[in-house]
Amino acid sequence: MITLGIETSCDETALCLLETIGDGVDIEYRILGNIINSQIDLHREYGGVYPTLAKREHIKNLPILFKKLLEDSGIKENEITGKIDRIAVTAGPGLEPALWTGILFARELHEKYNIPVIPVNHMEGHIVSVLFNKTDISNNYQKLKSVNFPALAILISGGHTQIIRVDEIGKYKILGNTKDDAIGEAFDKVARMLELPYPGGPEISKLAEQARIENIANNIKLPRPMIYSKDLNMSFSGLKTAVLYTLRNIENITEDQKKDIAREFEDSVTEVLISKTEKVIEDREYMGIIVGGGVIANRHIRKAFKIISNKYNIPLYLPESNLTGDNALMIALAGILNNKMKNPPDISALGNLSFDFN
Ligand code: KG4
Ligand code: ZN
Repeated sequence: MITLGIETSCDETALCLLETIGDGVDIEYRILGNIINSQIDLHREYGGVYPTLAKREHIKNLPILFKKLLEDSGIKENEITGKIDRIAVTAGPGLEPALWTGILFARELHEKYNIPVIPVNHMEGHIVSVLFNKTDISNNYQKLKSVNFPALAILISGGHTQIIRVDEIGKYKILGNTKDDAIGEAFDKVARMLELPYPGGPEISKLAEQARIENIANNIKLPRPMIYSKDLNMSFSGLKTAVLYTLRNIENITEDQKKDIAREFEDSVTEVLISKTEKVIEDREYMGIIVGGGVIANRHIRKAFKIISNKYNIPLYLPESNLTGDNALMIALAGILNNKMKNPPDISALGNLSFDFN
């Protein structure tokens, strides 16, 4: 079976062709083609993702990238109908104008080549992203990683911060959520306050790392929001405001002060995430910890999760480094695993799609 994955929920236009043998999580896979076209350079001047621009770029790039994907995979246009068995496309959550471009492109391909379409929840994509082993284009088939269930999934991205119980792939329960800003959004906003370019996550994490390596004194103190609350909800907007107030009290900020703020901010979000995770795993009910989403590219947060995985002796599943951010492979795989086809005209973009989708 060959699945075309399409992801356009935000500022990446991503397409892939994933070949699989077998059923369920026991499938073997090989990647025929995988393209991620980032629009970051275009959005940078707006300091964030500009939805109308994202939509225009997706519309422009989808046919070009699809052609390239076919070339990469050695599939000719007149072979599409027999070779590509299904399309998995992100239906939400995300920016609706951006989501629609992928959905309409899938619909067009369906009409032209008669290929069934599966709508995919982007967040489920981030969960299954950890199942991939190697992600290079290869002729060899590989098995997916096997995950122990029930697993606890922590999804940390630009739009979401969620703690989810995963009884099996396809069976989810949200245990905790952010009450306001998502963790990645907080990274991006704090970076903007420090006059760092978009996306701010990698920039903050670079400064924080320098602060640790250079042993810069920790003079800035920031709160750890909701760390002592009994529930698993989180809040990051107060933390962002605390950074704003801190900056108001500094007249001419030095590079060292920026590094100090970046490290203290990173420490704060990491401690909150880890403390919430520990609240759930300390009763030893969970057999695995999954962490997905763009923010898990952060080395400090990765390290912190590795430490608690060792402390509680619960295996940790993280995505390969090219699958932390948005990509089409995770969408194709989520589509393959849930395999819920829908009549393409009935598929709509759902900006706030939650896990009751499944
Ligand atoms: O999952 P993702 O690619 O897109 C969404 O679905 O939102 O996540 C993007 C987010 C951005 O907020 C970006 O700043 C953040 O991931 N990010 C990071 C790092 N790399 C990307 N945050 C912290 N540290 C990083 N190294
Ligand atoms: Zn994402």
